[in-house]
Amino acid sequence: MAKKLVFLGMGGTIAGTAASAADNVGYRAAQVGVDQLLQAIPTLEMALGRHELVSEQVAQVDSKDMVFTHWNALALRVCHYLAQPDVSGLVITHGTDTIEETAFFLSQVVPTALLESKPVVMACAMRPASSLSPDGPRNVLDAVALACTEGATGVMVVCAGTIHSAQHVQKVYPYRLDAFDSGDAGPMGYVEEGVVRLTYSWPKTEVIRPSISHEKLAQAVWPRVEIVTSYVGASGAMVRALCSAPQGSEGPLCGLVVAGTGNGTIHTDLDAALREARALGIQVVRSTRCAWGQIIPPSVLGDGFPHFKGLSPVKARIALILDLLA
Ligand code: SIN
Repeated sequence: MAKKLVFLGMGGTIAGTAASAADNVGYRAAQVGVDQLLQAIPTLEMALGRHELVSEQVAQVDSKDMVFTHWNALALRVCHYLAQPDVSGLVITHGTDTIEETAFFLSQVVPTALLESKPVVMACAMRPASSLSPDGPRNVLDAVALACTEGATGVMVVCAGTIHSAQHVQKVYPYRLDAFDSGDAGPMGYVEEGVVRLTYSWPKTEVIRPSISHEKLAQAVWPRVEIVTSYVGASGAMVRALCSAPQGSEGPLCGLVVAGTGNGTIHTDLDAALREARALGIQVVRSTRCAWGQIIPPSVLGDGFPHFKGLSPVKARIALILDLLA
């Protein structure tokens, strides 16, 4: 039976267009459909080998504007396809700006049994499809090579020939083609001339939150969790404003992630306001504004705010949302 490789389009720069082929920054993301994108890659058929191509446009969005309904739609389609015996893996085209959040989200909500048997590879681009020298086609071919590699499993991001796990990937450059990094963990590997070279094994899905099914997720009202940062002169004003703001369509504030300084430390004035928030029933967790490494908590936490291992503020927010939902 011929195996299927499924492409899910979510939008992003990879599907972006500009008025001029010379313009790599003044473009509109999410303009070209996933079918058209794939048709424009002449060697795709060869890269697919015996795989049958299936594609679906799940969303068409600049990833900075992504909302929970996009994630729900994507999680449902990912689970649907991974559960099909004739589907060998997925490639998702997505904007780079929040790809690390979507990758981490999927790694947490797609059943582990599915992720431990098939790959979900997220592909992106830093230049629009209309560019004189777009990076999207190469990145898609690398994603195909990765998804078709024997034994590939888990959620991964591939960009500029480098493979990152959902857990560690972070966008670190706003413009460079090789825009991502995996911090202390380092990249999982590389794709070189269509061949995957791993530096460590396929990612084991480290599920950080209590499990919640994607079906339940799709029906749930997602709790609102915001991120605040500690810095020189930080006050409690932001937190107090968030706690006392009249409730809009976004729902009540349920959680706060604080991106602390260094080892997750928090300015005294901000800390006082966060304690007030916690007394109101708002869950507070800490992360760090440091790009790499992870918070090493004191052996006695006392009444300090907990943290989610080495998760960045945006990923800690997802973990807290899923925690609250569960
Ligand atoms: C986006 O994230 O959708 C736009 C930016 C990009 O893909 O590089």
